[in-house]
Amino acid sequence: MSDLIIRPATEADIPAIKRADERSFHARMSDTEIADTLTLLPPERFLVAVDPQDGLVGVTAAYDMAVTLPGGAALPSPGVAWVSVPATHRRRGILRALMAGQLGGFVAQGLPLAMLTASHASIYGRFGYGEATRNRCVEIDPRAELRADAPDPGGVRFAETSEVTEHAPRIHRRWAARTPGAVSRSEAWWKRFFLDREYRRGGASSMFHLVHPDGWAAYRAKWGTEGSTLSVELFAVTPEAHAALWRVLLAQELVEKISTRLTFDDPLQLMLTDPRLIRTTSVADGLWLRVLDVPAVLGARRYGCEIDVVLEVRDDFLGRGGRFRLQGGPDGASCTPTAGAAQVHVGMADLGSLVTGNVRARSLAAAARLQAEDAALARFDVAFVPEREPWHGTDF
Ligand SMILES: CC(C)(COP(=O)(O)OP(=O)(O)OC[C@H]1O[C@@H](n2cnc3c(N)ncnc32)[C@H](O)[C@@H]1OP(=O)(O)O)[C@@H](O)C(=O)NCCC(=O)NCCS
Repeated sequence: MSDLIIRPATEADIPAIKRADERSFHARMSDTEIADTLTLLPPERFLVAVDPQDGLVGVTAAYDMAVTLPGGAALPSPGVAWVSVPATHRRRGILRALMAGQLGGFVAQGLPLAMLTASHASIYGRFGYGEATRNRCVEIDPRAELRADAPDPGGVRFAETSEVTEHAPRIHRRWAARTPGAVSRSEAWWKRFFLDREYRRGGASSMFHLVHPDGWAAYRAKWGTEGSTLSVELFAVTPEAHAALWRVLLAQELVEKISTRLTFDDPLQLMLTDPRLIRTTSVADGLWLRVLDVPAVLGARRYGCEIDVVLEVRDDFLGRGGRFRLQGGPDGASCTPTAGAAQVHVGMADLGSLVTGNVRARSLAAAARLQAEDAALARFDVAFVPEREPWHGTDF
């Protein structure tokens, strides 16, 4: 496809972009939905592939977002989405051309990172994206009971959507500041969220909210044969808020099950008399991160122990790798290009996983995806362990 043109979209491309997305993701989109989307993604945030004969043959877009690194720094990181190539034009390198154009644009803008959530786990590694968080979906049996020694701090009340438009974003910002891998939510994102449109409900009710001074939970209910399924998202910034919100959620009656996502380090399971009543239904890749500026990203991160290491990063797709000296610890870090001998060798995609600490360096080494001298590996492995399990909290 040598005549392929990759260019930013204009207003005139929107109907074709909408059709392309509908055909690739097998879902129709109402005029309201596309209008809502454009409040987050104006035309210039889309990149299109245009064939001189066939017209629009590929789409990608990028939300304006940031991601939190271990230690709490948030770096700008465009959220790539709306990626599609029509079935009539697949496997001719159009996605590859779009990815090269998009990532090249991000580099030109000086962006340190890019991120996405993927439809298939096997596509994006070749473009330098690595798995940076995991999604663990669970179902909680309504028979789940809290142990006698589980905290009971209280302080939770029900609220309507109009009452949480400031509280929920405030809690989310506090949560994101302490959670590696957390994806920011813009004002426009919250505005669309609070509209709570029918097309975002998946056949369930509009949102119910529970608020605590240090937490917030939102859920939808869908009636089944034996009660409702409650689909919950919960953000808590203190253990008290976490316990108080879950206590109210578990006290609900006429519930068939609660479905939610929990990190493996979430304390809820430890507070139940029968931990098996939380059943993991799937664990899969969540957020994918692509490092574009190694010194900026590794220098902004904090480390679990003092580290002084030279690492060699391979980047076959974009040439953003090289050899870097990383000196850091729990209080700060610096990362600079160097000509010194490298003790650790890693590919760019796997560096994306290490940035949040989603994967242990020693696991990558055992899988022959990272090479290091034994002494360097032991320290490197511990240094990259984050303060809590990384989680992105928002799909896009
Ligand atoms: C996924 C999709 C965008 C790929 O587009 P495409 O133009 O056919 O991809 P390309 O021809 O540029 O392929 C680039 C590389 O990705 C690989 N690839 C493409 N689609 C893949 C898939 N679904 N699974 C695994 N690998 C895939 C190709 O084999 C190729 O590998 P190589 O360059 O190492 O040989 C397209 O199939 C699509 O629109 N699918 C439905 C919607 C979707 O899933 N979008 C992604 C949302 S995150």
